[in-house]
Amino acid sequence: MDRTAQLTARHDGHTAPAAVAYDPPSAPDPLHVRAARVLEDNWTGGSTVPSRGLYPHQWSWDSAFIAVGLRHVSPLRAQTELETLLDAQWGDGRIPHIVFNPSVPLDAYFPSPDFWRSSTAGRATGAPRTVQTSGIVQPPVHALAAWLVHCADPGLSRARGFLARAHPRLAAWHRYLLHRRDLGGGGLASVVHPWEQGMDNSPCWDAPLSRVTPAPARSFRRADLDHGAPEDRPTDLDYGRYVRLAADYRNRAYADGAGAFAVEDPAFNALLIASEHALARIARELGATGTARHARAERLTAALIGRLWDPAEGIFLCRDVRTGRPIPERGVSGLVPLLLPGLPREVAAALVRTLRGPHFGLGTSTRLVPSYDLLGEAFDPHRYWRGPAWFNTCWLVERGLRVHGERETADALRDAALHTADTTGFAEYVDPYTGEACGALGFGWTAALTLDLLHEPLGHAVSPTGTGMSGRHDEAAQDVKGGDRG
Ligand code: SER
Repeated sequence: MDRTAQLTARHDGHTAPAAVAYDPPSAPDPLHVRAARVLEDNWTGGSTVPSRGLYPHQWSWDSAFIAVGLRHVSPLRAQTELETLLDAQWGDGRIPHIVFNPSVPLDAYFPSPDFWRSSTAGRATGAPRTVQTSGIVQPPVHALAAWLVHCADPGLSRARGFLARAHPRLAAWHRYLLHRRDLGGGGLASVVHPWEQGMDNSPCWDAPLSRVTPAPARSFRRADLDHGAPEDRPTDLDYGRYVRLAADYRNRAYADGAGAFAVEDPAFNALLIASEHALARIARELGATGTARHARAERLTAALIGRLWDPAEGIFLCRDVRTGRPIPERGVSGLVPLLLPGLPREVAAALVRTLRGPHFGLGTSTRLVPSYDLLGEAFDPHRYWRGPAWFNTCWLVERGLRVHGERETADALRDAALHTADTTGFAEYVDPYTGEACGALGFGWTAALTLDLLHEPLGHAVSPTGTGMSGRHDEAAQDVKGGDRG
């Protein structure tokens, strides 16, 4: 039996949680089988590439989202996915945003290992010697992913010591972010490059990036344009600035603190908080209490609200650390904190109003969540993070809606995400009005989160208080997950 057939057989034999029916338009195989096949096709033996053409290495937050979906077809591969990433962690605790596959030609992706020079430029900060990586980071989804992967098959996880090995690394990762990256001094982590926050060309970065002198266009060659339509990708001017910021950071030996760009971002910090809560659950599973971590997550939530919440706009805003000012742009990043169960009721209610209102149009002009304000001057329905809807942020918002009891809106968003993933061939991102595919097809996290939405219709088991994100008790959620996985 080939690997895809094995996955299919395992899926079909698995009893709980039940996959909720979704009728694909006219496909030969059920959606979950096709989603599993994308993950199989993108698997390299130790991790999963986001896309064979556009992103041929391992990406940090992609891997975390991929592991969340992969656990439904192979808990072992999901554990391995995270372990491969954690093996590339630097001595100072940072988890690099790319782990390079040495068998991929240097010119297949830019910036390549010879640009980042991690093993030499990153020596003082403890970059690994045996694997080449980038030197920047991505959002900390990893502890959340590790906990969810554990819950998919606690027996296998315990037998392999998965959490016991992951826990110290995840704790060091969070320590790095909370200590080395508190550049604003208010308790939140800052990103020092738009690639770190993950929404590369979001209009939220336009003002802080405008202060960065672009590297000359002739000094580098963009490999992304070999695979993506230029009108769907960041511009050359954006790239010139990305390259300048990354080269300056490298030339400072990846020391934190002095760069031209530093921003506190709501999604990055909300994911850190969700992962702190997950780390508390992991600590408890390993025999500790986890109380201090929950308390820290609550302090972080207070800092998030104190520094980034804008009550008049009903959304979280980014904060430019170099000017000390909020950035007055509405991006999907400002809705992601809905994920947090500890959010005050009025903040959650305002976020839901903003999501349904004219700036994001959910349920009226859009069925998926646009990445940027529909009414913003910079809105562009096709250009990467300047308007298109992405599946990871839709998944985060969908989970958040369930946490806060918005079941109907969550159900509609889930159905739209499944339908659009299906009809686009698991596109990287889509036009938020029409659902037209943009970027790469067969995209890793789109397939993975499709699997998660099919198998976790009620949400996940991560919260500070012992109740699931869906409001169910974690213990009950874990019982449901027992199933036949092994
Ligand atoms: N998202 C970036 C890219 O397009 C880098 O992580 O390559």
